[in-house]
Amino acid sequence: MLEIKNLHAYYGPIEALKGIDVSVANDSITCLIGSNGAGKTTLLKSISGMIHRTGSIELDGLGEITGKNSRQIARAGLIHVPEGRHVFPGLTVRDNLETGTINWHGFFGRQSYRDELEEVYALFPRLKERENQLGWSLSGGEQQMLAIGRALMARPKVLMLDEPSMGLAPLVIAELFEKIVEVNRTRHIPILLVEQNARLALDISDQAYIIDGGRVILEGKAADLKHDDRVVQAYLGKFAAGQ
Ligand SMILES: Nc1ncnc2c1ncn2[C@@H]1O[C@H](COP(=O)(O)OP(=O)(O)O)[C@@H](O)[C@H]1O
Ligand SMILES: [Mg+2]
Repeated sequence: MLEIKNLHAYYGPIEALKGIDVSVANDSITCLIGSNGAGKTTLLKSISGMIHRTGSIELDGLGEITGKNSRQIARAGLIHVPEGRHVFPGLTVRDNLETGTINWHGFFGRQSYRDELEEVYALFPRLKERENQLGWSLSGGEQQMLAIGRALMARPKVLMLDEPSMGLAPLVIAELFEKIVEVNRTRHIPILLVEQNARLALDISDQAYIIDGGRVILEGKAADLKHDDRVVQAYLGKFAAGQ
């Protein structure tokens, strides 16, 4: 569905991505695991065209997208839920969701987005209950639901989620991750999931990549990596990063 080859990205003279190869299969959940500063966010921003990059990014049905800008990429259905959620604090929940339609609806579109809205409310009834509440007044978990809901309004062909569990309580995370799996299984949307919490990510993913220092240092089936000594030591053990 999404095929990334030899991706490089720079912040000034600093090479943040040093030739990354990642592929996301149809219908799968693929995770990128790595400690703070590994380059995970940079990779997602590179894919969605938010920063300059070189290499090759191919999206099913559209071909090479490396030459396209972030707007064209979003219009093609590659939708990015950013680290930190970026909910609009002064807009209501409903208006936040409406902003998600802009890639296919435009600013003054007249098409209805009621079906999309109903699907999001069915997935996250909490958002329906808080429909008229302003973004800032939501809890962290609700803001993450809103950020994912907004992405679903965009009719995604592929979803990229950057650290959805960040700063949330374990029970809230468990509920949220169930929803992420539901989106993948019932709507057949492939997901590229970035997480510092390796255990959580490996539990729900099919395929996994370990990123360190701007490179992929290990890849494989999530079920296998969970038992790989190197992964257990560095990312799953008692003293592992991000735990
Ligand atoms: N805007 C920026 N300017 C300069 N360096 C940056 C910027 N954003 C990230 N970096 C650097 O790039 C590297 C990768 O960062 P990032 O992709 O945010 O890592 P992760 O998401 O895995 O924690 C880090 O060394 C970080 O300090
Ligand atoms: Mg990050």
